[in-house]
Amino acid sequence: MKLSKRLQAIADFVSETDRVIDIGCDHANLDIYLCELYKDIKIIASDIHEGALEQARTNIEKHNLTKRIETRLGDGLTIVNPSEFDTIIISGMGFHNIKKILSNAPKMINYPKIIIQSNTDVVKLRTFVTKLGYKISREELVLDNEIIYTIIEFTKGEEKYNYSQNYFGPRILENKNELFYEYYSKKLLKYENLLLQLPGYEIFSIMHHKHLIKIIRKELTKVKKEDK
Ligand SMILES: C[S@@+](CC[C@H](N)C(=O)[O-])C[C@H]1O[C@@H](n2cnc3c(N)ncnc32)[C@H](O)[C@@H]1O
Repeated sequence: MKLSKRLQAIADFVSETDRVIDIGCDHANLDIYLCELYKDIKIIASDIHEGALEQARTNIEKHNLTKRIETRLGDGLTIVNPSEFDTIIISGMGFHNIKKILSNAPKMINYPKIIIQSNTDVVKLRTFVTKLGYKISREELVLDNEIIYTIIEFTKGEEKYNYSQNYFGPRILENKNELFYEYYSKKLLKYENLLLQLPGYEIFSIMHHKHLIKIIRKELTKVKKEDK
């Protein structure tokens, strides 16, 4: 199974000993890949839509993995017992949906590891999940089809993050790479242009964007210094 760069980066966050629930598995490509890679991995592939799960089942059958990947129909974590898994994967959805899934989860406190790739509001996602009693243990930016995605692994624990750490990602800041520089250079340009267009009465938006421009410039300058 050949994965997209985005799914491959998510797969790289998973280890053989993990007992995984993939929420919103859709085609189940990630789960098939993980099963082919790790002979002992335990996976539940779930989806809220019958059509998507049917597609997953067909795909799983095609790869002769029906005995190794269990499929479940239903909403988020409401269809599993916490004792059945220790690693949650949620990817390819927007923040509001992810928030709903985690908010409706029974005994949220007990899940050791959550790997999330949100299509929107990654900053809000960091704030929300850390408030549930998680710290950010690993993060990665990945470029796939001209879109930059952020993959975050949350594990149980407490760690306080300042504004910049929460905005950029604490682990991403520790390991800034070319993609970081490219991504935030584009963002900086976007915010600078936006600032020029904002009407004077949009005081809060102006202040917010000025602040973002300041912290992005600061981090980009640090990258340049480190490169020297
Ligand atoms: C865009 S696909 C992403 C598929 C795959 N996770 C990926 O990253 O490529 C989103 C999937 O999540 C499913 N989904 C959305 N909300 C869900 C929920 N509350 N519980 C389970 N599945 C959900 C959708 O039916 C859809 O198949």
